[in-house]
Amino acid sequence: MRIDILTVVPELLESPFNHSIMKRAKDKGLAEVHVHDIRDWSTDKHRRVDDYAFSATAGMVMTIEPIERAITQLKSERDYDEVIFMTPDGKPFKQQDANSLSLKGNLIILCGHYKGVDQRVRDHFITMEISIGDFVLTGGELAASLVCDSIIRLIPGVLSDETSALTDSFQDGLLSPPVYTRPADYKGWKVPEVLLSGNEKKVEEWKLEQAYIRTKQIRPDLLDDDE
Ligand code: ADE
Repeated sequence: MRIDILTVVPELLESPFNHSIMKRAKDKGLAEVHVHDIRDWSTDKHRRVDDYAFSATAGMVMTIEPIERAITQLKSERDYDEVIFMTPDGKPFKQQDANSLSLKGNLIILCGHYKGVDQRVRDHFITMEISIGDFVLTGGELAASLVCDSIIRLIPGVLSDETSALTDSFQDGLLSPPVYTRPADYKGWKVPEVLLSGNEKKVEEWKLEQAYIRTKQIRPDLLDDDE
C-alpha cells in the first residue's frame, strides 16, 4: 500500500511513521507513506496556499490551485483508490472503514487547515471525507496519522500473530474484555480465577461476557448500532 499525504505542516507527520508498527510495515515493504508539502505546488512567490473567505465570518481558506496541481501530478504517476479529506465535518471514522481501506492499493490524504478548504476541492477531487470525532483539531495531520495507523496495522503481515487485529475492540462490535498478566496476585488484587483454570471454553465465555458488560457500561450505543 502507498499513502500520499498532502499537508501544509509536513513536520507534524515526521515522527508517527518512523516507529513501532508503522516502521515495521515500512521496513517489510508492506506500506509506504509519502508526506508532501502543498506549498511545493504553490505558484505564489511567497508560497501561499490560503486566502480570505468570500464571507465575513470565516477565516483563511485553503485555495484550490496548489491542491489541484498536487493531486493531478500524483494521479499522473499512478492510480489512486481514494482521495480522502480529513475534516471534522466528514463521516465519522469506524473500524469497518479501517478494514476496507486496508485492502486498497494507493490512497491520497488531504489534511485540512485554517477554516477549511475551498468547497470546489471537495466537490471535484475528494472521494471520501473522514472525521475522527466530534471535536476540532488545528489541522487534519494528527487525524491523518491516526487513520493511517489504524489502516496500516491491518495490512496482512504487519502485525505478528500475538498482536492480531482480529481480537481488537470493535472488530466484533464490542469493546475488548479486560486483560491480565503475572503476577496472579498483586498485593491481594487477584486475577479472575477462570483465567487460571486452563479451561479454554470457560475462558472464552468469560471474555465474551466481560466484553459485553464493558460495552454496555461504556458504549451502549454499540449494542444497538445495526450499521
Ligand atoms: N481536522 C480537524 N479536526 C478534525 C477531526 N475531528 N477529524 C478529522 N480531521 C480534522
